[in-house]
Amino acid sequence: MNRHLLSINDLTYEDAVLILDTAAELAKISDAPVKKLPTLRGRTVVNLFFEDSTRTRISFEAAAKRLSADVINFSAKGSSLSKGESLKDTALTLQAMGADAVIIRHGASGAPARLADQQWMTGSVINAGDGTHEHPTQALLDAFTIRKHLRPGQKDLSGLKVAIVGDVLHSRVARSNVLLLHKLGAIVTLVAPPTLLPVGVESWPVEIAFGLDLVVAKSDVVMMLRIQRERMADLFFPSEREYSRQFGLNGDRLKMMQPTALVMHPGPMNRGLEISADSADSLQSVIVEQVANGVSVRMAVLYLLLGGSPLSAENSKVLSDKVVI
Ligand code: NCD
Repeated sequence: MNRHLLSINDLTYEDAVLILDTAAELAKISDAPVKKLPTLRGRTVVNLFFEDSTRTRISFEAAAKRLSADVINFSAKGSSLSKGESLKDTALTLQAMGADAVIIRHGASGAPARLADQQWMTGSVINAGDGTHEHPTQALLDAFTIRKHLRPGQKDLSGLKVAIVGDVLHSRVARSNVLLLHKLGAIVTLVAPPTLLPVGVESWPVEIAFGLDLVVAKSDVVMMLRIQRERMADLFFPSEREYSRQFGLNGDRLKMMQPTALVMHPGPMNRGLEISADSADSLQSVIVEQVANGVSVRMAVLYLLLGGSPLSAENSKVLSDKVVI
């Protein structure tokens, strides 16, 4: 497996399946009375968040702690980042502190790749969401959640029909999910108004639909996306009411879904806009489960990237060679 996890493209099919299988094993820890393994004792994991986050940051923190790693939370607010310190200087500081893994969320697409490519640090870089580009661990936890709900007789995700609905244009979750679900053999349909589909979407391995009713009825999974107002400088649809009527998941559409089909959302949700409260809280919704599964999947990613690898030795060598602050 690659040292970094920047994109789903860093993973082969076998890597992805290994992460999901490992997560299933590690999930057992979450059900045990003592939720801890000594695997990453002595390792340092840094949460470097330049953008707001609730679920992802807490989930990575819980995952690292359950593997006994030391966790340093570093958010842009309240640190020298808000004084304009560069990504390079931040990386050099983290290197000097002996970070074995840096989990980075950044508003700019490609920031995690820059951190990894420049070799400012010797540790692993894990992308926790970069701009509108990718969010690989979210896609992995989504695939993990879908796998847990496979029908009897169905071994994997191949042939499964997944609809991804809404603001695809601004969604790193959609990009990572398209790549991963396709790799795992699922058939993905994107449902969105044309204004919320990215340029070049024709070359993605997906089907595209502009109406939700037909698609919800035949899907095994309906994954709703948040309308990302913070990334919208312009108007992408006439009104929220209009969007909700055409592309929102509501009680009527929920009734059109197959009884075994799943409702998913990466959170945070705009209840009443892309998803109605009754759909979000329905029996078919696995939204809360997605959050719980996120911890197991992130444990698996940290375990596979850090566990047993010679990173510590490498780190201490670099640190003794040159201490840079
Ligand atoms: C997503 C994100 O930040 O990209 N949320 C998450 O990680 N749980 C999706 C979103 O913000 O809509």
